[in-house]
Formats: sequence, C-alpha cells, structure tokens
Amino acid sequence: MQGKFITLEGPDGSGKSTLINLISEYMKNKGISFIITREPGGTPIGEEIRDIILDNNNTNMGAETEALLYAAARSQHIHEKIIPALSEGKIVISDRFLLSSLAYQGVGRGLGIENVKMINDFGLRGIYPDLILFLYIDPEITLERKTTLGGDRLEKEGKDFHKRVYEGYIELLKKYPKNICKIDASKTVEEVFNQAIVEIEKILI
Ligand code: TYD
Repeated sequence: MQGKFITLEGPDGSGKSTLINLISEYMKNKGISFIITREPGGTPIGEEIRDIILDNNNTNMGAETEALLYAAARSQHIHEKIIPALSEGKIVISDRFLLSSLAYQGVGRGLGIENVKMINDFGLRGIYPDLILFLYIDPEITLERKTTLGGDRLEKEGKDFHKRVYEGYIELLKKYPKNICKIDASKTVEEVFNQAIVEIEKILI
C-alpha cells in the first residue's frame, strides 16, 4: 500500500511546530500509522548537513552552496526515510520540504525559482506532497520574537530577506497551486488545527 505525504510550509515562526504536535496527537488517537520528520534533517546525514547550514560561524557560505546542501539533505531524506515509509503505507508528515528551498534560496537568496527547482529535481525521485499545508502570516509579526531570542544563521537574516521569502511563498502559491492548502496562521491554534484536519481528512479517504 502507498502512504500519503503531507508537508508543512511557511515563514519562520508561523507555528508549524505547534501544529505538528497537534496533528501528531490526532494521528495517535485515530490509530493511524505515521511518522513526523523535518527538513533540513530527518536522517543522520541530513542532521549533519543541517548543522553545517545553520551554523552561525559559517558566515562565508555562498548562496549556491546553501541551496545544494539543502537539496542534498532532502535527497537523503527521500532515499532513507520518505520513500521507505510511504511504501510501508505510512502517513509521512514533514516540517518543510521543497517549497522552502524555492522560497528561501530561489527568492530570498535571489538564485531563481527555476534554478533551485532544477538542482532539487535531480534528488526528488518524483516524490511530490499529496498535501502542502501553507501557514501564512506576515513575517514582521513573528520575526521580532525569534531574532531577539538569538536564532540560527537563517533566522538572523534581516527583515528584507524574510520579507522576500514571504513574497516568494505567495508567488509560489500562484505558480504551483497543486495540492496546496492555505491556512491563516494569525488565527487561534484551534482554528488553524481544525482547518488542517479538514484538509488532512480529505486525503486520508
Ligand atoms: P528551523 O529551525 O527548522 O526553522 P523553522 O522552525 O522556522 O522551520 O530551521 C530551518 C531554517 O532553514 C529555516 O529558517 C528555513 C530554512 N530553510 C531553507 O532556507 N531552505 C530549505 O530548503 C529548508 C528546508 C529550510
């Protein structure tokens, strides 16, 4: 049996972690076989790549290197974790996937959506989410908190970068609307969760 692949996307601090915890509880209560994973990371090799990418000491990393590292971590994730779980019939829920690279590296770093898509396509093996839950919220609202608390190399990027990423996401929604569900992340946790569950149930049938 083939499982289903669900990804969560959105700007930094849009509440993905909270939503994932709630979805996880829901899946457990329903007795659904599922895994929760994340990008960059999700595998031992991917987590090592994650440490390199997000390390605040790596101030001289080129944008192309950054994009290739995210794509490499993703490729390992697909190979080692996503394909095996889907082929066992599991629901795979990933905190971020391809759309993050298209928004952050393609638009935020200015590498171009098509270029970033091309380097990723090589490692995707035809995997595409059955459902993308996109949490939209103006990054101005969320970033204040993250950057004042410290933050990793990407979070420390200025407001202009995160504004570009957000605009990138909006552009991507129009360009690749397939399987994307928009959720207003400024709503209450309960409302966000309820909307996510309506969409998840549609693909579980
Ligand atoms: P993380 O701590 O997981 O951030 P968040 O909790 O906001 O998801 O760190 C991941 C960071 O990497 C985040 O700033 C988004 C960024 N990122 C990219 O730039 N490109 C990518 O392809 C992915 C997966 C993440």
